[in-house]
Amino acid sequence: MGREKIRYFCDECGYEAAKWLGRCPGCGTWNSFSEAPVAKKGFKKASGLSSAQEAAPLISLTEYEDGPPAERLPSCSREFDRVLGGGIVPGSVVLLGGAPGIGKSTLLLQLAAFIAKEKGVVLYISGEESRQQVQMRARRLKAASERLYFYAETNINDICRAVVELSPVLVIIDSIQTTFNSELSLHPGSVGQLRECTAEIVRLAKTCGSACFLVGHVTKEGALAGPKVLEHMVDVVLSFEGERHQNLRLLRGVKNRFGATDEVAVFAMGEEGLQEVDNPSALFLEERALGGPGSVVVAALEGTRPILVEVQGLVCPTAFGSPRRAATGVDYNRVVLVAAVLEKRLGFSLANQDLYVNVVGGLKVMEPAADLGIAVALASSYRNSAIAEDTVILGEVGLTGEVRGVSFMEQRVKEVVRLGFRRVLAPERSLELRDKFQSLDFIGVKTVQDALDKLI
Ligand code: TYD
Ligand code: MG
Repeated sequence: MGREKIRYFCDECGYEAAKWLGRCPGCGTWNSFSEAPVAKKGFKKASGLSSAQEAAPLISLTEYEDGPPAERLPSCSREFDRVLGGGIVPGSVVLLGGAPGIGKSTLLLQLAAFIAKEKGVVLYISGEESRQQVQMRARRLKAASERLYFYAETNINDICRAVVELSPVLVIIDSIQTTFNSELSLHPGSVGQLRECTAEIVRLAKTCGSACFLVGHVTKEGALAGPKVLEHMVDVVLSFEGERHQNLRLLRGVKNRFGATDEVAVFAMGEEGLQEVDNPSALFLEERALGGPGSVVVAALEGTRPILVEVQGLVCPTAFGSPRRAATGVDYNRVVLVAAVLEKRLGFSLANQDLYVNVVGGLKVMEPAADLGIAVALASSYRNSAIAEDTVILGEVGLTGEVRGVSFMEQRVKEVVRLGFRRVLAPERSLELRDKFQSLDFIGVKTVQDALDKLI
């Protein structure tokens, strides 16, 4: 083989270039290029008649080469299983991303403990924490088990050797950014190392049949650190989110080769690690102050699961300077749009008022279905008049002040009934659901004005 070819990769987005660049044309980041050798690939082997014997046999999808595929393993919680698409697929590689301190190591140690107890040997590899640290956490989580092995290692070759020797059911690598291949003269965490190590782990998982969970760091913006290729290489990408100051955590599927994405599991971080929350709506509405102006309940959709949350609006006179519009947990642009509709179509005078909209509990509701809820919350605060507390509000608001239909209405309304609410204010076209939910007082509205007339 001739000299190795050197290429340059952006550490942020993985953009590939032939020479070093100061600014990445792909993502615009400055000074993010690092060099990585690219091995020349031997394409010749795959072509030509002489290699026909070496190639894998060609068989149809209905036949199995070596028995039917292994069954999925249940994980430590039903919610987690749902996000994974029905359990852990043996031989799959899952990447779990999340902000520092959010609870990635805790979640995976709990998973490791469960699998070790129920299914077989688990190997937990940490390049970030020492044995003592992990032992302390394991004691706290009551996770210690004879079949749970710990290995503090970052060298990918040693990791592979350990996995082959132990042939565990589950391998956990915390984190992929700390692993490195000593044959490459690159820093751990650089694009070249990440790609090599991940490729090695994917190969290992496929040949040994061990399921593999990798912890991935995230950038300041919350995206997974490292090149996008990392996400392409693994089978499942999960993201663990939440406000650090609150104990609620959301596990979200971003990519899943074995199931639907967009599924969400809710966990609460407590003294003894993460507990699944099977009734998140009740949790979000727990501390609701009843009878206060500016508070409404909307049914938001997280993946395919409806969650009822409280949206609060506050309108107060601007003390000086230009008026403020602040949005926490809702889309800022939707707040501005709703405010403009209230001003122009309903005659509210908001030019000298500050507007604040807040979703309680740290949940993010980015869908337009919450528009009408935002509008009513602001109007209720503006007029200082409370909305009946047993009402849930749903609908998208258009620029002419019309209220538009919402997707998955039936699922949302089911959740409304389950939590004991008695009234739903919904777009006129969802009135067809009225017969299905006879216990509910279904109110159809055409415009925002219509909604306010019926509520305030
Ligand atoms: P950790 O899993 O170390 O986060 P990550 O691996 O994502 O960086 O979790 C750290 C936080 O979780 C820490 O602030 C303490 C908290 N925690 C609990 O509240 N209860 C527990 O039982 C455990 C183990 C951690
Ligand atoms: Mg950690």
